[in-house]
Amino acid sequence: MDLASIALLVGGEGWGLLQSLPPYDAAGELALQTRLRSAGFSAEVVSAALTQSRLRARGRDKLGAFADGMLFTPDGLEQATRLEVAARHASRYLRAEVRAVHDLGCGIGADAMALAGLDLAVRAVDSDEVTAVVAGVNLRHWPDADVAHARAEDVSLPTGEATRHTGLWLDPARRARGAADITGRTRRVFSLDAISPTWHQVQDFARAVPATGAKLSPTFPHQAVPAGTEAAWTSWNGEVVECAVWWGPLVQTVGRTASVCRAGSVAVTLTEADAEDSPEPLGSLAEMGSYVYEPDRAVIRAGLTGALANAVDGAELDHGVGYVSSNRALDISWSHRYSVVEAMPWNVKALRAWLRDHDIGRLTIKKRGVPLDPDTVRRQLRVKGAGEATVILTRVRSQPHVLVVRAG
Ligand SMILES: C[S@@+](CC[C@H](N)C(=O)[O-])C[C@H]1O[C@@H](n2cnc3c(N)ncnc32)[C@H](O)[C@@H]1O
Repeated sequence: MDLASIALLVGGEGWGLLQSLPPYDAAGELALQTRLRSAGFSAEVVSAALTQSRLRARGRDKLGAFADGMLFTPDGLEQATRLEVAARHASRYLRAEVRAVHDLGCGIGADAMALAGLDLAVRAVDSDEVTAVVAGVNLRHWPDADVAHARAEDVSLPTGEATRHTGLWLDPARRARGAADITGRTRRVFSLDAISPTWHQVQDFARAVPATGAKLSPTFPHQAVPAGTEAAWTSWNGEVVECAVWWGPLVQTVGRTASVCRAGSVAVTLTEADAEDSPEPLGSLAEMGSYVYEPDRAVIRAGLTGALANAVDGAELDHGVGYVSSNRALDISWSHRYSVVEAMPWNVKALRAWLRDHDIGRLTIKKRGVPLDPDTVRRQLRVKGAGEATVILTRVRSQPHVLVVRAG
């Protein structure tokens, strides 16, 4: 999306057209385009409106019905925070009695909308001009929210006592400028020095304004968590969506936390205290319990699998593998439980024989903590049979092992 096509949509005729379009239907797009052209709309305005219609349809997953009144760029939508998660960010500022938040790299404005929705004043900037215009359109309903085309580094921030009710929010771009793939999306970057603003700059901002929060990748390294902050890993419906670092009054629990969020359920948050004093991993295969539990991925990313070991009175299979053995059958909302049918040291021939003897023809292969490739393993196993099984390839006492399990 460029400025010219956004301008066409923000102008009267384009906006009216966009709002009048039927729900997006890929199969009918060509026919709709022809119909709109014959109704007298220019090729440019039709193309811009249909692009937005397509992006709005994609945006519904993250932004629900709000998407129907928003504008997007493909990259902006991809990087936007899911509304439920953005609402959780915004509520931290509210609880910390922050009144105005500077969103320093607001993208299409999903986080900014959640902040504004809680009646916080929002001062947003984005260094990309098109994105800033799009965010301005998306924030139009909130009189105390404004968006400027500017770089975070150039924003003049309050100092001293004036920072008391001010917050900063940074969601640095994890995309390389300019290098777009064939879908128009830009390449991801992974290093903390390559994100924009950089991690170094984010920490400088946090020194200037105590109530600072920053959204980082779920791969954020534990050793990089600054002293006194909260590093909060969050998952949505089983997928880890971020590690947000919170400073000053925005900290709820110092250290690493994991929040497991699911549509329709109350979020559960685990902290380092929940994982404290968890038992040592299994000493040998003989200690394997009747059940193996797998925590939500946010818990694993946060390094809090010990909380699950404590909750089920069990022990992790090996340091950091994220599977917990136990003899107790408990329902833990933030974990999956499997019954252990068989457990053995990893040996492809032995597993093939076991699967053949048990007439297993369909396999789900899960693996963590071992350098085995599930597709290669599947080929090596050459399963044929009527039954079904799930196998977990993982480690016990540093050695590769396999568990045959069933849900429950
Ligand atoms: C991950 S997106 C923000 C998404 C946003 N939180 C949301 O929920 O929609 C990051 C944005 O930061 C902008 N950006 C990158 N470097 C910047 C800088 N130095 N100053 C201001 N904006 C910047 C990018 O253009 C991009 O739109």
